Amino acid sequence: MTQQLTIALTKGRILKQTLPLLQAAGLAPVEDIASSRKLIFNTEHANVRVVILRGSDVPTYVRHGAADIGVVGKDMLLEFGAEGLYEPLDLGIAPCRLMTAGFSGRENTRTRIRVASKFVNIARRHYSSKGIQADIIKLYGAMELAPLMDLADEIVDIVDTGNTLRANGMSPLEHIADISTRLVVNKAAMRTRHDAIQEVIEALARTVDQAANRGSTS
Ligand code: PRP
Repeated sequence: MTQQLTIALTKGRILKQTLPLLQAAGLAPVEDIASSRKLIFNTEHANVRVVILRGSDVPTYVRHGAADIGVVGKDMLLEFGAEGLYEPLDLGIAPCRLMTAGFSGRENTRTRIRVASKFVNIARRHYSSKGIQADIIKLYGAMELAPLMDLADEIVDIVDTGNTLRANGMSPLEHIADISTRLVVNKAAMRTRHDAIQEVIEALARTVDQAANRGSTS
């Protein structure tokens, strides 16, 4: 039997929006992922399986060839780099913005700014491109708490509805990038397993087009 293709999926909000795409593309997992503690699932396509990962680990699995294909937020690619990866398709799901945020109107008298984020590389590049000296503080979640607790002056985070910032008395300040979920492919696998990978890309591309057409006609 041919070796199965492995697609690394990002758990959480992205996974919820990926499953209908996989379903429509004939790649649905054969078990209910939500009610299982398993991490590897066969799909209704005999040659395709999926694994469930944290988004920050998806580029690593695909770069090293442990997975052939990945579904991951553009924020993760900007933060961890896309070396060794092709990015053939914007899946158009989980759209949001990467922003700086803080208390608007508050005078910042510091000569250096303190910035809390889990996106430390993106934050470093952003402030350095503006010529601002920034001390970047790495956090793993609940970034909005950092300015409230005077751990940081600003944060760099994902903004979707803006509700989390508003609920904590903050505002989005500067736009860094528009984010959506991307399909990534290991470059070596794209050569050695081209036909099988192309079949998956095309099936998902058709599904994304159909979803976009439905959206534009509704
Ligand atoms: C993200 C982000 C914000 C929130 C923004 O967190 O870190 O906290 O969503 O969404 P909003 O603009 O609609 O309020 P998420 O819930 O994904 O959890 P995380 O902290 O694990 O990233």
